[in-house]
Amino acid sequence: MNQIIHPITSIKGSIEVPGDKSISHRAVMLGALSLGNTHIHGFLNGEDCLSTIRVFRQLGVEIDRVAETSYIIKGKGLNQLQEPKYVLDVGNSGTTIRLTAGILAGQPFHSVLIGDDSILKRPMKRIKEPLSLMGAKIDGREEGKYAPLSIRGGKLKGIAYHSPVASAQVKSAILFAGLFADQKTTVIEPFQSRDHSENMLLQFGAKLEKANQEVTIWPSPRLEGQEVNIPGDFSSAAFFIAAALLVPNSLLRIKNIGLNPTRIGFLQAMQQMNGQIEILNLHYEGNESVGDILVKSSNLQGITISGDWIPKIIDELPLFAVVATQAEGITKVTNAEELRVKESDRISTIANELRQVGVKVEELTDGFVIEGKQRIQGGQVSTHGDHRIGMAMAIAGLIAKEPIIIQQAEAVNISYPQFFEHLRQISTIK
Ligand code: S3P
Repeated sequence: MNQIIHPITSIKGSIEVPGDKSISHRAVMLGALSLGNTHIHGFLNGEDCLSTIRVFRQLGVEIDRVAETSYIIKGKGLNQLQEPKYVLDVGNSGTTIRLTAGILAGQPFHSVLIGDDSILKRPMKRIKEPLSLMGAKIDGREEGKYAPLSIRGGKLKGIAYHSPVASAQVKSAILFAGLFADQKTTVIEPFQSRDHSENMLLQFGAKLEKANQEVTIWPSPRLEGQEVNIPGDFSSAAFFIAAALLVPNSLLRIKNIGLNPTRIGFLQAMQQMNGQIEILNLHYEGNESVGDILVKSSNLQGITISGDWIPKIIDELPLFAVVATQAEGITKVTNAEELRVKESDRISTIANELRQVGVKVEELTDGFVIEGKQRIQGGQVSTHGDHRIGMAMAIAGLIAKEPIIIQQAEAVNISYPQFFEHLRQISTIK
């Protein structure tokens, strides 16, 4: 499916974006492992989170949709998941395959996880290694490097693990496996990654201690079903923050957005680049910070980001490249080699698609350099099946000279099915 994005004159009004993807996955998983019902409100009905629901139904969990974005998960407790008869297909979802692998590592049965072509290229050694050290038997294609993954779980040993990557998926897989271990399990990361698993494990009654880059979990006798209110996904809101900053004469309020400090590196980058952004109505929902974001059109300055900033902005880096084209001077990203193993190789995909519309980008092995301001010309691009590339290029289309045609635009259904509709609602067309 193609989408045509026309240049616009302003962004105005207020908008709410769908629920947070990371939190939606975790609510289903921890709900499944709890005793009693978990009521989820604000669930993201994107393809990735629906894959998590499908997988947990195959593991014997009853999950009822009771309203548009509300679900009841009838928890099975920690030890009553069922051996699945068929392979578990995670679709495009890296979070589903890696976090579920952590849970399956603690189950006394055999299971197989598969996914789409993108999933089959993504590195799995990073979870196979720690989960095997804990005692699970895991195998996969090319010596366990890639899915399909075959898991024979069982009794696990607690470990202390220095993760070579700052990855919330790796950390969470180990912490979830730690629920089933014989003693405490510690994960130490090079930089702190998003901490939604830790926040939600605490909410569901797990014993856990966290101090930035180090988290320890103790085996749990039981988790208790909870009421979970999921805020809007900051990673989805980021596209509209960028749109309102870049399109002249814009003023936009984005309501009820998750503002967890481990997620808002893009907001901090925009503020440092002189973006006019205000946070209003800041409060807590469960253990997560939530608030409204008010954004005005701004003249941006280039910056350099690297190191511990990267995990906090990781999913927004393709969009950040688009923003960089409109910032005065040089914008540089380094230490972001993880981008090469996302839904697509996001360094080369965003660089190539920006080149298609006339932008000069220097690709680095671990990032990129863009000198602004540059005029975006318009033309034909593709998502390459990567949702965040599609939405980033749509924002480029709003400020381009000519329309941008986005091929394979259905990829946005992974995290934000209503994206193009919402974008139209707040846009004033030329
Ligand atoms: C996620 C963690 C991040 C992020 C992904 C969602 C999660 O991946 O890029 O979109 O929900 O835990 P990594 O753990 O690979 O960094």
